Amino acid sequence: MKAYVTPSSTPSYSPGLHRYAVALAVCTLLLVVAGASVTSNQAGLSVPDWPLSYGQVMPRMTGGVLFEHGHRMVATFVGMLTIGLAIWLAIAERRRWMKTLGWIALGAVVLQGLLGGLTVLLLLPPAVSVSHACLAQLFFSTTVAIAVFTSQSWQKGPELARDFGTPSLRSLAVLVPALLLLQVGLGAAFRHGAMTVMAHIVGAMVVTPVVLIVCAFVLHQFPEHRALRPAAIALLAITGAQVLLGIGAYLTRANADKNPLAMVIVTVAHVATGALTLASSVVLAIQVRRNVTAPIREAVAA
Ligand code: HEM
Repeated sequence: MKAYVTPSSTPSYSPGLHRYAVALAVCTLLLVVAGASVTSNQAGLSVPDWPLSYGQVMPRMTGGVLFEHGHRMVATFVGMLTIGLAIWLAIAERRRWMKTLGWIALGAVVLQGLLGGLTVLLLLPPAVSVSHACLAQLFFSTTVAIAVFTSQSWQKGPELARDFGTPSLRSLAVLVPALLLLQVGLGAAFRHGAMTVMAHIVGAMVVTPVVLIVCAFVLHQFPEHRALRPAAIALLAITGAQVLLGIGAYLTRANADKNPLAMVIVTVAHVATGALTLASSVVLAIQVRRNVTAPIREAVAA
């Protein structure tokens, strides 16, 4: 473990800890890809038991077992990395809330493993599978947030800017991840057979304009801001890609009998980009809440 580097402007920045947090976020995205591959290949019940696979630590990786057991292996690795992160934060981090966040991430990954095991043992009940899908997305956003909080740019402190719009950017920024989580849940409900895709498509028609408007507000009000501008541009770009992938998922799913591989690739990419969309909206919300202060009301000012 590296000691903290303490230049005057960055009092508690640890490059090693930050790199570790980034590595955990990248591995978690790969885990989302592995999990989505299980669903898209209908391999959820290829291994009937849990926590062992066919009573073994390492079964023969053939057919659907490759996807289901492969997913379990990546999940175990991410779980171990999360234990390491929680311990590292507990030892080296000065901010108490960051230590707490490390333990929350660890609790989430344990719960996620239990939900994964439960969904296999109970033969994929939609409620458990959808909860597993949503918690995966929330866990990824948590790892991305930890990577942001441990970064050097975060340690430099906020670049305060005043909000002058109505409704306030501080509340709009929180609305976006809330709507996106709902949208991700509707997508998962369709994938796991709990409802038709229509609610998810209508959801996209609501959430996409909200993302566009909030990002336009941010870019219009703070075009030069060093944290807000890149966060808004990233969310815009990722959401654009996600909508295109969503249309692709719909079309390739409709033609899955003709080209199953295209359906698997596009739906898995749509799930993974869904995780990136939610995480980038969380990052924008964090940066807005940190950097943007409430508008001065005329009456109060006078
Ligand atoms: C910002 C917008 C969107 C987000 C964040 C989003 C997110 C997601 C996520 C996360 C899933 C998978 C859930 C899971 O199993 O874990 C999903 C599934 C799906 N989404 Fe979206 N989506 C968006 C827009 C769209 C649009 C515009 C369409 C189509 C017009 C669409 C069509 C689909 C379809 C067809 C699936 C199921 C894929 C499959 O068949 O396996 N999505 N979406």
